[in-house]
Amino acid sequence: MSGPLLLAIESSCDETGIAVVEGGRRIHSNVVASQVALHAATGGIVPEVAARAHLRWIAPALDAALADTGTDWTDIDGIAVTYGPGLAGSLLVGINFAKALAWVHEKPLVAVNHLEGHVYAAWLADPDTDPMEPVFPVVALVVSGGHTFLVEMRDHLSYRLLGSTVDDAAGEAFDKVGRLLGLGYPGGPEIQRAASGAIARDVVFPRAWLGDTYDFSFSGLKTAARRIVDAARADAGFAPGDTEAHLPDATVAELAHGFQESVVDVLVTKTIRAATAVGARSIVMGGGVAANSVLRARLAAAAEERRLPLIVPRPGLCTDNGAMIGAAGARRYAAGERAGLGLDARPSLPLAQR
Ligand code: KG4
Ligand code: ZN
Repeated sequence: MSGPLLLAIESSCDETGIAVVEGGRRIHSNVVASQVALHAATGGIVPEVAARAHLRWIAPALDAALADTGTDWTDIDGIAVTYGPGLAGSLLVGINFAKALAWVHEKPLVAVNHLEGHVYAAWLADPDTDPMEPVFPVVALVVSGGHTFLVEMRDHLSYRLLGSTVDDAAGEAFDKVGRLLGLGYPGGPEIQRAASGAIARDVVFPRAWLGDTYDFSFSGLKTAARRIVDAARADAGFAPGDTEAHLPDATVAELAHGFQESVVDVLVTKTIRAATAVGARSIVMGGGVAANSVLRARLAAAAEERRLPLIVPRPGLCTDNGAMIGAAGARRYAAGERAGLGLDARPSLPLAQR
C-alpha cells in the first residue's frame, strides 16, 4: 500500500516514541526516547515518574523526528496516537500532545491500539532484513511487558483471540526473575545476556502447558524461580535474608538459561501449533520479548521446519516505538477511521475477543 504520511506518537509505557511513516510501511524517522535509565534506579516503572518524563521528552522527540527527514507539516496527512492499553498518565501525555498538533495543524487524528501496533510492526519494511509482507491468514504472537497472546488474522484489522496469559505476561516474568537473580532492569535483556554465559545448561524450570489450549501461564515460573534461587543461595552458604550476597556469575548464568528455555519452549510450541491448526500462511511476532535472540532463533527454526513464513521485526521495532503505531495507524486511516478531539485514554483497551 502506498499511502498516507503519518506522524505517529507512542507514550503508553516508558518509551516516548515519535515517528514519520509512509503508507504504513516506509519509516522516514523513528525517534525513541527511552526511560530505562530513569526506571533502573527504582527497579521498575513508577507511573508518575514515567508520565513526567514523557512530558519532558515528547517535544524534543517530535523536533528530532521531523528534523531527521526534513519533513514539513504540509507533507503530513494525519496523526496517529496510542490511546491504550497502558499507563493512564503516560497515555494522556501522548494523546494530549497529538490532539494539540491535530488542532493547530488541522490534521485528522487516528486512535491506535498499542497491541495492534506490536502486530503491525511486522508490516514495516526493513531494508536490513527480508522485505517480505505477511500473507493472510496470519497467526500473531504478541509478547510484551504487559501482554502475552496469540491471535488469528484473516484480514487487516480483524482479530480472533486464540489464547492469552491467564496471569503474568512473559516480559513481566523476565523482569521479576531478573530481579530475583539480582540482575538489572529491565530483566529481559539482562537475562538474555546472562543466559548466554551458561555452560552446563542443566537447570530445568517447569513449563505450564495448560493442556492443549493456546493459553499461557508464567506466574508458577516465578515461584519456581524463587525456590531454585533460594536453594542456590543456601548451597552457596548465604544466610537466609542476606540480600547483600550475590550468587556467582556462573550460577546466575545457568539459572537465567533454565528460565529463558522454559519461556521460549512454551511460546514457540504453542505458536507453531496454533499456526498449523488455523492453516496460517505466515506467522508474525512482536512486543518487547520478541527482541529476545533465543526466542527469535528458536521460532525461526521451528517455522522453517514446517515451511511457515515467519516475519519478526528487528529488535528495535519489537520494543515500544512510534513507527509501529504509524504502521497500524495507516490501516485505520485507510479504513476511514478518525478520532475526535475528545479522545480519551483507555488503559485496559483489549485487542481481540475469543
Ligand atoms: O513491548 P515492550 O517494549 O513494552 C510493553 O508494551 O510492555 O516490552 C517490554 C518488555 C519488558 O518486560 C522487557 O524485559 C522485555 O520486553 N524485553 C525482553 C528483551 N528485551 C525487552 N525480554 C526478553 N529478552 C529481551 N531481549
Ligand atoms: Zn509494548
